[in-house]
Amino acid sequence: MRKLLIAATGFAFAALSGQALAEAGAAPSHHIEIGKKVYERALGRGCGACHDQAQNPQLAKLIDAGKLDRKRFGTVVKEGKGGMPKAIDQIMELAPVKTANLDQEQAIDAVYDYLKSLK
Ligand code: HEC
Repeated sequence: MRKLLIAATGFAFAALSGQALAEAGAAPSHHIEIGKKVYERALGRGCGACHDQAQNPQLAKLIDAGKLDRKRFGTVVKEGKGGMPKAIDQIMELAPVKTANLDQEQAIDAVYDYLKSLK
């Protein structure tokens, strides 16, 4: 009973904050939070292990500058490119992705939207 109450409260809260965000026109923070976890955990040490280094593509900056669209982002994550390993299989194994029951495109959206939220 206690667990049920806690779950119900959590649900009501999530519904409320989701609505507030929808009104503000922002992506749900939960979605961005999953994207952040994927960015930090994918491929062992996270995307940042390579992408936070100056010699590799600066993903958030490229997206912000309109130089990396969602389609190309998804293709590279699914297929790899040069020194960029194919990442999607590992992403789908991450706990936050499994818990939220995301499909491949939703998981990629989460990382892309997380990067878009950084400025
Ligand atoms: C082992 C290092 C490494 C890791 C880890 C890594 N990347 Fe990369 N990534 C690269 C390199 C190097 C390139 C440049 C490849 C090229 O252009 O030949 C790249 C390119 C990309 C590109 C294409 C950028 C463009 O302008 O076309 C995307 C998108 C990308 N990575 C996303 C990710 C994401 C998302 C993750 C985490 C899931 C990730 N990468 C993890 C090394 C890495």
